[in-house]
Amino acid sequence: MKYAYTGKKRLGKVKFSLLEIDEKENREEATFYLFMLSKLFPFLENDMGVDLGTANTLVYVRGKGVVLREPSVVAMDQASRRVLAVGDEAKRMLGRTPGSIIAVRPLKDGVISDFEVTEAMLKCFIEKASKSQNRWRPRPRLVIAVPSGITEVERRAVCESAAHAGARSVRLIEEPLAAAIGVGLPVQDASGNMIIDIGGGTTEMAIISLGGIVFSRSVRVAGDELDEAIMNYLKRAYNLMIGERTAEDIKVKIGSVYPMEKETSMEVRGRDLVAGLPKTLTITSQEVREALLEPVQIILESVRLTLERCPPELSSDLVERGVVLAGGGALLRGFDRLLSEETGLPIHVAEDPLSAVVEGTGKVLDELEFLTKLTTSDGRG
Ligand SMILES: Nc1ncnc2c1ncn2[C@@H]1O[C@H](COP(=O)(O)OP(=O)(O)OP(=O)(O)O)[C@@H](O)[C@H]1O
Ligand SMILES: [Mg+2]
Repeated sequence: MKYAYTGKKRLGKVKFSLLEIDEKENREEATFYLFMLSKLFPFLENDMGVDLGTANTLVYVRGKGVVLREPSVVAMDQASRRVLAVGDEAKRMLGRTPGSIIAVRPLKDGVISDFEVTEAMLKCFIEKASKSQNRWRPRPRLVIAVPSGITEVERRAVCESAAHAGARSVRLIEEPLAAAIGVGLPVQDASGNMIIDIGGGTTEMAIISLGGIVFSRSVRVAGDELDEAIMNYLKRAYNLMIGERTAEDIKVKIGSVYPMEKETSMEVRGRDLVAGLPKTLTITSQEVREALLEPVQIILESVRLTLERCPPELSSDLVERGVVLAGGGALLRGFDRLLSEETGLPIHVAEDPLSAVVEGTGKVLDELEFLTKLTTSDGRG
């Protein structure tokens, strides 16, 4: 037996009495009462915005801001599939687990590749984010950002995973729209705004006007592909095998896409493919740039194609306003300069590129009239 509210109290004209939640029968009723309570007392509210990303999941709690940012990684027992760790703890295990444990990333290329594991991860994150909340809270209403390129089936699957993970209702918003709202672009105005979000699995770009997406494009080339390109380069050039995490480390520490004023280098450790032994070598930032050339060209080509499809009136707005760059990939040195050179447009990197999408879901929660206009509902509220 659980109690949603214990004791008898009179608060103004509102009288509460003992509300018992008998696991199954009264749960719905209790949720209703808690919902009503949250309307009377906003501090009981428990609405959340979620950026369910390939690389990172961020959660925004209404009234509190971003309360959770952790890698989208789950460590499980291989035989029983029992979840052992989630987020930061699980990422530390990536590529280092003994035979019985596996560390997986349940989202790939921006979409859910393993539903069961995504659900477990989401549940864990929702619980973690709720911990900072009041104890007597209703189940959360979620606004989840999803890639603009996902199919109807994938949309439904995200909603179902979130419902199983404990959401009372789910609304979806397209990632680039959320990112644009998050960085503060005037998306409701009758003027063209463009955002490019370079994440882990997908690069999303969209031209937005009057609160809607005029044209969007999503390519499954982003941070992960850049890491892979570095791994392949080291294999090809030096017969050196490195792990995903080392590749990401190289990208973040010395990666660039435009010649830098001061080129750098770093030591890299891996396994020699010929001798089979551990090996250390030094790699320069010029080499990393060369390694990143191919995936970066795909992203540039995609941006060009998007601009070609932009209606002329909105194109002229872009010349004036420029384009905003968000997502972790926006932090790659020289991306703004390269894009500016290629497109002839002013490029602005978002203040906090990794938080743009979740901040957008937060703003949507804060301004409820946004909800019905900009999101699609799972039909439950
Ligand atoms: N300083 C940096 N330089 C270059 N890349 C970076 C930097 N910091 C983070 N990244 C990369 O950004 C990516 C993660 O970005 P982000 O959190 O926006 O992705 P995501 O939202 O999880 O993915 P997606 O939107 O594709 O589902 C990773 O590939 C990471 O390596
Ligand atoms: Mg993202």
